[in-house]
Amino acid sequence: MESLVVKGNTELVGRVKISGSKNAAVAVLPAAILSPGTIYLENLPDITDVQTLMAILDYLGVKIRRRGRNAVELSTANLSRIAPPYDMVKKMRASYYFMGSLLGRFGRAVVPIPGGCDLGPRPIDQHLKGFSALGSKINIEHGMITLTAEKLVGARIYFDVVSIGATINLMLAAVSAEGRTILENVAKEPEIVDVANFLNAMGASIRGAGTDVIRIEGVKSFSGAKHAIIPDRIEAGTFMLAAAASRGTVTVDEVIPKHLEAITAKLRETGAEVLVEPESITVKGKAELKPSDLKTFPYPGFPTDLQPPAMVLLTVAKGLSVITENVFDGRYNHVEELKRMGARIKVEGRTALIEGGKTLTGAPVSAPDLRSGAALMIAALIADGDSTISDVKHIDRGYELFEEKLTQLGATIRRKKAEEPSQLAGGSE
Ligand code: EPU
Repeated sequence: MESLVVKGNTELVGRVKISGSKNAAVAVLPAAILSPGTIYLENLPDITDVQTLMAILDYLGVKIRRRGRNAVELSTANLSRIAPPYDMVKKMRASYYFMGSLLGRFGRAVVPIPGGCDLGPRPIDQHLKGFSALGSKINIEHGMITLTAEKLVGARIYFDVVSIGATINLMLAAVSAEGRTILENVAKEPEIVDVANFLNAMGASIRGAGTDVIRIEGVKSFSGAKHAIIPDRIEAGTFMLAAAASRGTVTVDEVIPKHLEAITAKLRETGAEVLVEPESITVKGKAELKPSDLKTFPYPGFPTDLQPPAMVLLTVAKGLSVITENVFDGRYNHVEELKRMGARIKVEGRTALIEGGKTLTGAPVSAPDLRSGAALMIAALIADGDSTISDVKHIDRGYELFEEKLTQLGATIRRKKAEEPSQLAGGSE
């Protein structure tokens, strides 16, 4: 098990290039198998979630040619399997997108119930309700979901909850259904729009992605396509929050500022300076930050994925801040670890009360999930003294070159295997 040894009292300064969006990439890759043509993808983040999906694609029979670190060419003509294996699927939530894409291409999919970050219960009832409405039979046995349809027929589907996963999965299945599908009460995240743009580039007919209602006319065949993944707004937001928490000045480059408005607004509320340019945003932290209340919501609300890093920022702001987590039941895995670093936080149900203003102190902590890991990284950077973050595999799932990018901004971080001593060069824990 690898861990990161992080030097505290660090002010982050400089520029950082933001990678392609994890949550768009992990949907676009399964979507690629809908077309028997050649797919060329650019701006793919080099993260372990993408590597896992590549391994699944390889297993299914996709021919993969890497074109440098962030591009890939996929030839999907000779798919030989319809059942991604459990040991790969269990590593990540997004493997459930193979349900929609395999069903769309072959009318049959056998997919194990997916894994992913432990954020409390994560049902997939809305996905299944949608597949059923399109005419698929569903059988769940021994942890495997089997979907079968002689033919998929367009339908009107109203989602009971706004779900990114269900919205994308139903787009994947409906693009090849006979006739028109109308998806209502859908998620509006930029990643949904990116996947719709990719599917349309392959020949699908999807309108309304980015609004509450998506209309899809089924088509009979798909062509090859070339697509560049959008920038990762969650990675960008993580660096923006880290800049403010460390009282540094950081510019995130190659971003779409429109996707980051909720974060920009929240940072300004805490007193940080934010300069927005067409493709970059600069955040300048202030010595005295103000407390602020924060509520997570689906896009365009404040993203739940940035709630853990934002909590670290609020531990710095002097006074009481209140966070309400509205998207997931159990997304406070980071709280106990932050408390080990001296943070004063009380959780009651979906609400967290943060009494900010006390300096955090370095400590050995463990990353319980991806975004909690990012939050602990920020906490370690601003703490008094050094910290060791274990279970780094969670961070590697979703942040490309995280240590390298932070190091470029002035951080001192060392990766070590479990058996190595934990001293930093010239420092101590
Ligand atoms: N939900 C249901 N039934 C369903 C589907 C969802 O009740 O059939 C509920 C969930 O339990 C949750 C809410 O609806 O309370 C929203 O869940 P959603 O389906 O939108 O989440 P997801 O698709 O499982 C994606 C991201 C998450 C991100 C959430 C929310 C991917 C691969 N994952 O998950 O990303 O937190 O949307 O924005 O896109 C991360 O990147 O760290 C991460 C966890």
